[in-house]
Amino acid sequence: TQFHTLLQALPKCEHHLHLEGALTPETLFALAVKNGIQLPSDDPAFASPASLALRYQRFTSLDDFLHYYYLGMSVLLQPSDFESLAWDYFLHASKDGVAHAELFFDPQAHLARGVPYETIVSGFTKARMRAEAELGISSLLVCCFLRHLPPVEAVATFRLPEVQHSFTSGQVTGIGLDSSELEYPPELFTDLYASARDLGLKRTAHAGEEGPPSYVTTALEALRIERIDHGIRIAEDPSLLTRVADEGILLTVCPISNVFLRCVPSVADLPIQAFMRAGVRFSINSDDPAYFGNHFLLDNYCAVQTAFDLTANDWSVICKNSINGSWCSASRKEALL
Ligand code: ADE
Ligand code: ZN
Repeated sequence: TQFHTLLQALPKCEHHLHLEGALTPETLFALAVKNGIQLPSDDPAFASPASLALRYQRFTSLDDFLHYYYLGMSVLLQPSDFESLAWDYFLHASKDGVAHAELFFDPQAHLARGVPYETIVSGFTKARMRAEAELGISSLLVCCFLRHLPPVEAVATFRLPEVQHSFTSGQVTGIGLDSSELEYPPELFTDLYASARDLGLKRTAHAGEEGPPSYVTTALEALRIERIDHGIRIAEDPSLLTRVADEGILLTVCPISNVFLRCVPSVADLPIQAFMRAGVRFSINSDDPAYFGNHFLLDNYCAVQTAFDLTANDWSVICKNSINGSWCSASRKEALL
């Protein structure tokens, strides 16, 4: 359609992409063989890449997805595994017209398996440099902490010398908070976020995906975050909508993810119109595309267009908000605007 071309051509910024969530079933099986990793033999979903892809069509919740997400990433061992994972993502991003990408990764899940932090970051950094040089895509890394693990472990990971070095050297720009939401409210991680703020790091957190609007309030107040990942449930609280709009907080909305994880029945049920009416800024993102039907960023833009029939002007506003809400340099923003 006419809009597909328009949306493809927009200089899109992606702010909510878990690199581990770009691991396709095919690559997962190939790396399991290469690295000698035994996949679960008691789950028929792991019979083949095709059966695994079918199982991904039937996630019942965030936690049901996370079970497969953590099993999947267990095949990543070598720097080259992380590099090729990120490079695969950049190829999709390039095809979709992504200009700038802010990429999440989950070090605690890899450190727990004995994979050194430098292995992860060096692999991702190689792919980022190549994407900048060959595809013209700028990117940065955001280190996420897992809320289902004890907060003291997040702080201990944050304090590791190699993690500190990745921050002070500028290889990693900010921190995030992800994994299972409902049982782990944001304020558990107040100390972690205070330390990140002291270091001058950018700060975001998943909140209001499955969790109630009050988790967004505590994420803003206790964690003092600059952005909210998902945040769709703020639509249930008009005063919070106003507050998020007034404070200029960007929501990183992930439409197809929200449908796959049953946060909403369909993309049309997302509060996109309420956000636009209230002046809440948001970007559109793919979250874990390999787990959600292999729908990368442009598919998410198209799904929003199909559901809401936005105007070219609406898209121009969305695009500008997502450039302005990015964590890249002022000069890079200028180039994108
Ligand atoms: N980890 C990867 N994707 C996630 C999501 N959508 N919510 C919480 N944790 C995640
Ligand atoms: Zn996410």
